[in-house]
Amino acid sequence: MEIKVIAVLCLAFLSAAQAVKVSVYYESLCPDSMRFFSNQLHATYQLLGSDAITVDFLPYGKATHTQDANGQWSFQCQHGAEECRGNKVQACGLKYITEPDLQEAYAHCVMSNSYPPDAGQACATSVGGVTDYSAISSCIASAEGDEALVAYGDRTHALGSILSFVPTIIYDDVFDQDDQNESLYNFRGVVCRHLPDPKPSGCA
Ligand SMILES: *[C@@H]1O[C@H](CO)[C@@H](O)[C@H](O)[C@H]1NC(C)=O
Repeated sequence: MEIKVIAVLCLAFLSAAQAVKVSVYYESLCPDSMRFFSNQLHATYQLLGSDAITVDFLPYGKATHTQDANGQWSFQCQHGAEECRGNKVQACGLKYITEPDLQEAYAHCVMSNSYPPDAGQACATSVGGVTDYSAISSCIASAEGDEALVAYGDRTHALGSILSFVPTIIYDDVFDQDDQNESLYNFRGVVCRHLPDPKPSGCA
């Protein structure tokens, strides 16, 4: 009896420890990013769950940021200033919505909206995890949001030339071009390939 309980506990730890880390480098007004969230990420996350996937969201993409002499940040985004605002909607949301399942639900809700920059409040409300949207909205409108976005930007720029396509999907911190390409049409298959045996039933 006791041995059985211990074995079950060990399995529980193993499955949590062996989730594949999936880093998603994306930008809010990019059609390929929106498609990846809508058609690939969400269904697979729903199927396999946080035991199998730890998503590391990086809403920045092909942007740049500079700081002026007063310490004020400014951003240039691939699809214009509204895309930067949409990225901040996520950077700030991810700062205040911290539970992994709720983060995925929030990012998916924003990115599957027809206009992500305006989706923050409705998504935070529908997903839950925050009792008061004003913390997120004041983050978006202030230096706090700038700092949150700069942190994602620095991590994105650290990829260097690896970031040629948006979204870029990286598994367990190692970029692989085959995984990248396949992720856009068979994300579940790539995740399952990275999971150790025994694979979860959702990989069958
Ligand atoms: C990945 O896809 C790009 C086009 O989207 C293609 O040029 C490249 O050859 C592909 N790489 C691999 C390893 O399949």
